[in-house]
Amino acid sequence: MKKKLFIKTYGCQMNSYDTKRMEDILRPLGYESSETYEDADMVILNTCHIREKATDKVFSDLGRIRPHKIKKEKAGGQMLLAVAGCVAQAEGDVILSRARYVDMVFGPQTYHQLPEMVAKITGAYGAERIINTDFPVEEKFDHLPEENALEGPSAFLSIQEGCDKFCTFCVVPYTRGSEYSRPVEGVLAEARRLIAAGAKDITLLGQNVNAFHGEGSDGKTWGLGRLLQELNGWDGVERLRYTTSHPCDVQDDLITAHRDLEKVMPYLHLPVQSGSDKILKAMNRKHTAQSYLDVLSKFRDARPDIAFSSDFIIGFPGETDEDFEATMELVEKVGYGSAYSFKYSARPGTPAANMQNLVREDIKDSRLQQLQALLTQQALTINQSFIGKTVSVLFDRPHSLESNKLHGRTQYNQAVHVELPSAAPPRSLEGQVLDVTVTRAGQMALHGNIQTAQENAA
Ligand code: 5AD
Ligand code: SF4
Repeated sequence: MKKKLFIKTYGCQMNSYDTKRMEDILRPLGYESSETYEDADMVILNTCHIREKATDKVFSDLGRIRPHKIKKEKAGGQMLLAVAGCVAQAEGDVILSRARYVDMVFGPQTYHQLPEMVAKITGAYGAERIINTDFPVEEKFDHLPEENALEGPSAFLSIQEGCDKFCTFCVVPYTRGSEYSRPVEGVLAEARRLIAAGAKDITLLGQNVNAFHGEGSDGKTWGLGRLLQELNGWDGVERLRYTTSHPCDVQDDLITAHRDLEKVMPYLHLPVQSGSDKILKAMNRKHTAQSYLDVLSKFRDARPDIAFSSDFIIGFPGETDEDFEATMELVEKVGYGSAYSFKYSARPGTPAANMQNLVREDIKDSRLQQLQALLTQQALTINQSFIGKTVSVLFDRPHSLESNKLHGRTQYNQAVHVELPSAAPPRSLEGQVLDVTVTRAGQMALHGNIQTAQENAA
């Protein structure tokens, strides 16, 4: 009998990847993905621990799901409730004692054991609660299912996990463990499956993806540049991206990949976090503002039209007005196409959580507002510079709100919305790369028209 599975994904693309793999693992057990949790047979919250708000959200969501679980059980059914991901890894005990109705708690490295966990809970042992927060990361990748379900032409492929950088604000080295690169053969086998299932646009994922050093079947260690070079030569795939990178792990062949490999997109997400050397040191980032800018210059020399993106943390302990100004200056110098900025929040167990000189919340708020205003202005200026130009767009899905429109992405990762040509059946253009003339641009997206076949041929 078919069972309904609802997975809620919080946080990063790594979690989205894990969610897909959990669905793949549970499918053979009869679980089918469902859009709602109300009458699901299994609910998994795939959680994120990176910032404070992400954790709070988990507990409020658990409270919302609980009455539905009780209702289902009163009616003689069962709703297995699981907390997975990084909150589970970091606070598994707390979840089990604070939310007694949760059945399973498992970290990001153990979801390949889901069939065993489900069997224990539902089988002869009954009513046992499970906590599973080991770190058998190698084993996990060895046990991923052979089938990858795809929704649309864009796919994630996890090649590296964990981090040894130990930035003082960050929980990743504790929740995802130390850095691990998958062997190349497994990565290529998964890429082959994704392409066979229709993937045209593959994003290689890792917490520190450019630290990738996978063992190749040629006995050599492959870096990210080498891997991109291999995939660039494959038929079927049209676009390659990777995220997230660290400025200190940029190898020369990654830079030349952007110059020489036509499928490697002219887009780079390279977080800097702050523009102040004092703060970068306190964050243990191991680079300065200038050495970061030097890395960007190398990418720009290799690929002049490359678009940059970054993460910023505002209000790290000890951040003065002067430090914040240094961040604003760095942003002015770079001119980002997009960026993510966050107020610092102390994460339990990280070195920064014990630091003094905390920045007042209202100061953080006003600095964040200033930074976001500048970043928004930059994104808008860059997007508007495309008006009247033709861009190459990979269409990946219908527009989320307007059914007569399609959503796609430029090579620079900008979202593009176009009206579906009247003759085209819905979804027929998904997976195609077409030229679009840009007519309008906002901060978040470009708008335009698909060029006709004659225009495309001209
Ligand atoms: N507080 C605020 N932002 C954080 N990030 C990571 N840890 C914290 C924290 N404690 C941000 C960083 C990172 C992104 C994924 O999340 O900018 O690059
Ligand atoms: Fe966290 Fe990234 Fe620093 Fe690693 S490099 S500790 S994942 S912020």
